[in-house]
Amino acid sequence: MSTIQRESVADEVLDAVAEAVPRVREGLRGRRETVGSENASGDDQKAADVWADKHLADRITEIEGVGEFVSEERDAVVDCGSGLSVALDPLDGSSNLESNNLMGTIVAVYEDDLPARGRSLVGAAYVLYGPIATMVSAVDGTVTEHEIVDGERRPIERDMAIPADPTVYGFGGRTPEWNPEFAEYAGEIESELKLRYGGSLVGDVNQVIGYGGVFCYPALQSRPEGKLRLQFEGNPMAYIVESAGGRSSDGERSLLDVDPERIHQRVPLHIGNEELIDRLESKVER
Ligand code: AHG
Ligand code: MN
Ligand code: MN
Repeated sequence: MSTIQRESVADEVLDAVAEAVPRVREGLRGRRETVGSENASGDDQKAADVWADKHLADRITEIEGVGEFVSEERDAVVDCGSGLSVALDPLDGSSNLESNNLMGTIVAVYEDDLPARGRSLVGAAYVLYGPIATMVSAVDGTVTEHEIVDGERRPIERDMAIPADPTVYGFGGRTPEWNPEFAEYAGEIESELKLRYGGSLVGDVNQVIGYGGVFCYPALQSRPEGKLRLQFEGNPMAYIVESAGGRSSDGERSLLDVDPERIHQRVPLHIGNEELIDRLESKVER
């Protein structure tokens, strides 16, 4: 598949996600409850997770040029022919549904078979179900923010770049669970920036891209691999922020260089301004 063809399939995937947004959003109402099953990561599935997964998968797996599909809510890869591989977090931050806080959808389009290395990404995007439904996408290294109106993407900011002067930070996990090196880094950042932590990766990283800063869900003493998933969360968000001039790290290297071993593998995630991630790596030994 040529570069032009790969990018056009990636754009078709992002269009399919945008088209599903009104349906996904309207289906959140009345689907706050858990459905009694767990996903492959061991998270309780909410009816809204399953709803979003179905409406997005139905569209994405139909696209000519998509060969593989997997989501956070499915154990195994779906074979849909030949072409690019799509990994999806259908509803990110779904625990925010009960408190009516921000949630999102994250999509990654890889050239390689799944589980894929971040460097093989052709495009990535996240939808933010905020007061306005928006999509931030990166294809071929260019970051664009769109409003989603009636299932259509309308660009509102092109060539997005993370602001040079950082303003906000958000750190997941609980202070007693952090490794001492991260706790020391956190102490420095907390004295320099403003806390913005909303419990959804999409909402929190969107603030980092908009205002400059850093978001981390670090390795925890109880969970050295961290909480967030490389294929559906770490790689796509790293690709978008690095395309906007920022950096990402698992504590040692860009998330895009982390070896893909399993579909639902977790990874410590640090994303934001280059100098803040450089500082993090100089403190945190892995
Ligand atoms: P998901 O709802 O897709 O499982 O993602 C939830 C993730 C991520 O969105 C967020 O950054 C993190 O969980 C929040 O974790 P805590 O609830 O531990 O703060
Ligand atoms: Mn998620
Ligand atoms: Mn999810």
